[in-house]
Amino acid sequence: MDSSILQAANILKSGGLVAFPTETVYGLGADATNPAAVAKIYEAKGRPSFNPLIAHVLTVEDAFALGIFSKHAKLLAKAFWPGPLTLVVPAQDNCATCELARAGLNTIAIRVPSHVIARQLLQAFGKPIVAPSANRSGHVSPTTASHVCEDLGNRVDLILEGGSTEFGLESTIFLCSGQEIILLRPGSITRQMAETVVGVAVQDSDKDAGLVAPGQLASHYAPRAHVRLDVSQPKADEAYLAFGPQPGLDAFAVENLSFSADLTEAAANLYAMLRRLDQSGAKTIAVSPIPSHGLGEAIRDRLARAAAPR
Ligand code: TXA
Ligand code: MG
Repeated sequence: MDSSILQAANILKSGGLVAFPTETVYGLGADATNPAAVAKIYEAKGRPSFNPLIAHVLTVEDAFALGIFSKHAKLLAKAFWPGPLTLVVPAQDNCATCELARAGLNTIAIRVPSHVIARQLLQAFGKPIVAPSANRSGHVSPTTASHVCEDLGNRVDLILEGGSTEFGLESTIFLCSGQEIILLRPGSITRQMAETVVGVAVQDSDKDAGLVAPGQLASHYAPRAHVRLDVSQPKADEAYLAFGPQPGLDAFAVENLSFSADLTEAAANLYAMLRRLDQSGAKTIAVSPIPSHGLGEAIRDRLARAAAPR
């Protein structure tokens, strides 16, 4: 095994913080069983401590040891793990993760990542790793190691380099309570994909405000610039986040999420392009209309948060 992985596992064992790549975004990892280590995550992120964290584990069996899985939850786990999916389930009585990591809730968010470096780290460490996205609270999530460095710099003991992340959006989160599946955060595993597997309709969380993921504050994914949505013709002083073929644009700075209007490519590019447009110095980032089907639901969700008043 790579010596940097062993070094990272040792840092986790001694209660330190390691940023590592996953297939979604980079995570800021700590030993899930060590409250002092988990507290350092909240401190480094500047995150309100009521926000519960996702426990990352190596296998589906490891996940079953932490949480109680309904029939539907098991079907989702078997279909999409390892991969960009998080399931919120009731915690087992003897759940190994500390209460601080769960923010005192009796449910637990669990994910089995597929990224090879994340998996090597989980294997070398041998225990669950809690990891929020490795950004300061309220900033956009990091999709490269240098984003982590810009945001957290010396607040983290080690950053494992793994290039650009594959999906570029945080994992889909489903709350599995009883027979119901509730979408808490849209992502690369779409509601349609989940419905195909479980054979029942996925419910929306916003029908019942109490079920919204505590971290889903409206303005969570925020660049510094003001964000204006569904704009086909940007103003000359605006930065523009385009989607699909866009000939003859006159804008301050332009990035195109996907010239071929491919939603998967757009998701992977979203955060890095928002960062670059933010750094252009424009006061406003105008965003092209994005379709709402499939992965478009997750992209529109993140953009709506970036545009929310704050
Ligand atoms: O793709 C991802 O999920 C990344 C990578 C690093 O795995 N992680 C990530 O973590 O996005 P974070 O902390 O930025 O977002 C986790 C979300 C938060 O909105 C949190 O409130 C919610 O999961 N969450 C965690 N535990 C929960 C629970 N028991 N009930 C409801 N929501 C929960
Ligand atoms: Mg986050």
